[in-house]
Amino acid sequence: MAQIIIIDFGSQTTHLIGRRLADLGVITEIIDPHNALKKIKKDKTAGIILSGGPSSVYGKGAPKINKEIFKLGIPILGICYGWQLTAYMLGGKVNPGKKEYGPAELAIKHFHDLFHSLPDHTRVFESHGDSVFKLPAGFKVTASTNGLKFAAVEHSQKNIYGVQFHPEMHHTQKGNLILKNFATKICNLGLKPKKIKIDSIINQIRENVGSNRVIGAFSGGTDSAVAGVLAARAIGKQFIPIYIESGLMRTDTIKRIKQEFPKILGIKVKIIHAEREFMDKLKGISDPEQKRKIIGRLYINLFERQMKKYKKVKYLLQGTTYADFIHSQGTKRSARIKSHHNVGGLPPKIKMELLEPLRYYYTDQVRQIGLKLGLPKEVVFQQPFPGPGHAVRIMGAINSERLKKQIQADQIVVEVLKKAGWYNKVFQCFSIMTGANSTAVKGDSRFYGEVVAVRIINSRDRMTADWSRIPNIILEKISAKIINQVPGISRVVYDITSKPPATMEWE
Ligand code: XMP
Repeated sequence: MAQIIIIDFGSQTTHLIGRRLADLGVITEIIDPHNALKKIKKDKTAGIILSGGPSSVYGKGAPKINKEIFKLGIPILGICYGWQLTAYMLGGKVNPGKKEYGPAELAIKHFHDLFHSLPDHTRVFESHGDSVFKLPAGFKVTASTNGLKFAAVEHSQKNIYGVQFHPEMHHTQKGNLILKNFATKICNLGLKPKKIKIDSIINQIRENVGSNRVIGAFSGGTDSAVAGVLAARAIGKQFIPIYIESGLMRTDTIKRIKQEFPKILGIKVKIIHAEREFMDKLKGISDPEQKRKIIGRLYINLFERQMKKYKKVKYLLQGTTYADFIHSQGTKRSARIKSHHNVGGLPPKIKMELLEPLRYYYTDQVRQIGLKLGLPKEVVFQQPFPGPGHAVRIMGAINSERLKKQIQADQIVVEVLKKAGWYNKVFQCFSIMTGANSTAVKGDSRFYGEVVAVRIINSRDRMTADWSRIPNIILEKISAKIINQVPGISRVVYDITSKPPATMEWE
């Protein structure tokens, strides 16, 4: 079957390009630039997408491709770095340094092919350092933004297209349509959407595990619950679900684990209390990556201690999703953003093999699987909570006093949103102990205390996110409650940064 080859230059969203096309029913393969020509020639390649990436074309060791690729006559779409590289290799000029992050209004001039049936103005998302300032011969501009004349270009005889923005990101309003147009109108591919096959995921687990046993790292969150139900269906009592109470989770988690999860899984969840151990290990640690690694290692250590209590335990089940994997440097060329504790935070050697049935699925797909498995909606659509929990929401060193304040402020954010009917409308909401102090007046006297930030975001698959436009009256309630009820807080601020450039969590 003909496919679109995506050449990965290390963008955090390369896999989103594949995901969007796969959802549309296009077969794709993501490959490394090295040896790409051979692969393209060997396979039935209907189109090539050159992804974005963190490099500059002038940078030392910047990834390049064989120039022959541009002469094959196969349609090419360069995205961000992929377009800059196209321009650079075909004789254009790239301007290093003019950084643009965020939304922009795209004004379209030519509507055939790539922009077929798009409106003349549409919102796109830009995230780039360099940009092209001289086009290679034969290219013409098809769309511009206020800050960028060459936002989209084409060489129609050669079938080469370039966009400086990211069509794969949800914030690009018509991004899916642009990718669909590339696949259908330019590469002439038909669309055959593929369904997620739960039976084959379950069979795969059964086959891998054989007669061994599996310890399940259970956090109470959607991902580990879905992974747990898949394992329970596949191997029944060979599966031992364990919840480690680190003291860093939301306080209602343990209650739900005890009451609801045995019903969902059909197996009782074993609970290990390790609050003291976590606090001791985190004492005085303020570096975010170090925190994540300490937490990841302690989790594994605790699971390994459990492993010794049972016979034939070979696997540790984790609800790792694709976003966790990518953020912790999932692809060869992507930059490490942070070590998600169930991926990059793990110690190099583990005494068990990892079983991660959701590793190649995004949050929205995991939710689909959860619904199909019959999990309650409250579990499937609950907000994700990071494995390292409140530890990555307390900037700087953690102590029990700051943890208590964080738990209290976070609960206020959740409760106010629930009461106002907004909790289920957002992807995540939480507070952050910023580590910054500011002056306030409390009871007519000067008061100097910590600043709490509130982050409320919308996202579909965690790869991109936007801050929620929450009504001011709700924000006002959150602020007043935190100031009045949490001791030692001087000020509450609202985070209005999207991802990218910011990540969802502060650490
Ligand atoms: P970032 O901050 O990387 O977060 O933009 C993306 C999503 O992942 C969650 N997150 C984690 N989940 N272990 C997890 O299981 C982690 O270490 C971790 N760090 C971040 C975060 O809450 C958001 O939903």
